[in-house]
Amino acid sequence: MFPLRVPLLAILVSVALCQYYDYDYQPASMLGPSGPNCNQECDCPINFPTAMYCDSRKLKFVPIVPTGIKYLYLQNNQIEEIKAGVFDNVTDVLRWLVLDNNQITNAKVAKGTIDKLTALEKLFFSYNDLTEPVIPPSKSLDELKMMHNKLSKFPSGLLNDKENLTSINLQHNQLTSDAVSGAFKGPKKLLSLDVSHNKLKKLPAGVPSSLEILYADYNDIDSVGAGYLNKLPALQYLRISHNKLVDSGLPAGVFNTTSLVELDLSFNKLQSIPEINEQLEQLYLQANEINKFDLTSFCKFIGPLNYSRLKHLRLDANNITHSSLPPDSSNCLRQASDIMFE
Ligand SMILES: *[C@@H]1O[C@H](CO)[C@@H](O)[C@H](O)[C@H]1NC(C)=O
Ligand SMILES: *[C@@H]1O[C@H](CO)[C@@H](O)[C@H](O)[C@H]1NC(C)=O
Ligand SMILES: *[C@@H]1O[C@H](CO)[C@@H](O)[C@H](O)[C@H]1NC(C)=O
Ligand SMILES: *[C@@H]1O[C@H](CO)[C@@H](O)[C@H](O)[C@H]1NC(C)=O
Ligand SMILES: *[C@@H]1O[C@H](CO)[C@@H](O)[C@H](O)[C@H]1NC(C)=O
Repeated sequence: MFPLRVPLLAILVSVALCQYYDYDYQPASMLGPSGPNCNQECDCPINFPTAMYCDSRKLKFVPIVPTGIKYLYLQNNQIEEIKAGVFDNVTDVLRWLVLDNNQITNAKVAKGTIDKLTALEKLFFSYNDLTEPVIPPSKSLDELKMMHNKLSKFPSGLLNDKENLTSINLQHNQLTSDAVSGAFKGPKKLLSLDVSHNKLKKLPAGVPSSLEILYADYNDIDSVGAGYLNKLPALQYLRISHNKLVDSGLPAGVFNTTSLVELDLSFNKLQSIPEINEQLEQLYLQANEINKFDLTSFCKFIGPLNYSRLKHLRLDANNITHSSLPPDSSNCLRQASDIMFE
């Protein structure tokens, strides 16, 4: 039994480390002794005095944050409550607030806490029990992560003044299309939106035209509105795998836009290959019900300059084999180094 446990623990630890890697997390113990201006439950390294590390120490409440703290780490505790006043001395200096892996509900976020933070840039509030988003008034917010909560609503207009917000992660919640209609209109510089593992019936409405990455895997999407992508001229990566897309839900040419580089439509119910633009490089269609290979989905015309830039095409787990490839495919798909049929 014992030898088995060690590698498992190693895997868990490395997963945990990866999870926090994206905000340069360093354990406080590696940062030297704690300075005097610190809550006694936490560590504020002398050589990084604007950071307070309170993570992984079974805390039930957010401790009072002393003057001058800009970076606050509270992940991996048992925090259920944020009491009024805890941020009173840092309302206009706190930049990073990390609350991942706690048990916080909306009812236990007191007034006069997050709603007073006017300088916050990063709010990481994943793996908690929020049913609706908690958004600070800060106009400087650039990153918002609320994955793995129980969000079932996201009121319209909440992000209206977030002019610097570039990234929103909301995967693994209970958001419906109605719940998010209007939610993402505000942030005019948004680059990346992840709404995978929710309950959307269509792609989110009103997303800003700056968007480059949109992930909506594992929802209930059965159609894409005509012209949806025409409003997103910068979109490069679109994933709608593990949904309920059918041919009749895709208007002609809906994915034929020049900006797209990668399109993932795998694990749906498509019977034919949708028309794509010549510029697309990656197309994932595995695990659909595709039963014919129509070259005009890739090339309406073929010539010296008119051919598909597709490099990778996955068609495995469909009703189609290599012999379905028309003879003139190699001219149209001249860059496809990798076409998978099984
Ligand atoms: C908050 O600020 C007040 C006024 O400057 C100060 O007296 C108090 O000690 C500070 N509290 C903390 C926890 O830093
Ligand atoms: C937005 O970002 C720019 C560039 O980093 C910065 O100059 C500006 O002050 C930011 N705006 C807000 C409201 O923080
Ligand atoms: C995609 O749109 C362009 C421009 O409208 C058009 O010329 C091309 O034939 C379309 N491609 C496909 C595969 O439908
Ligand atoms: C072929 O490609 C060229 C250059 O991209 C374009 O100008 C022309 O319209 C295309 N011809 C057809 C028939 O699509
Ligand atoms: C699969 O394709 C074959 C040949 O085109 C066809 O006869 C058959 O009905 C298809 N099966 C399904 C499940 O679509």
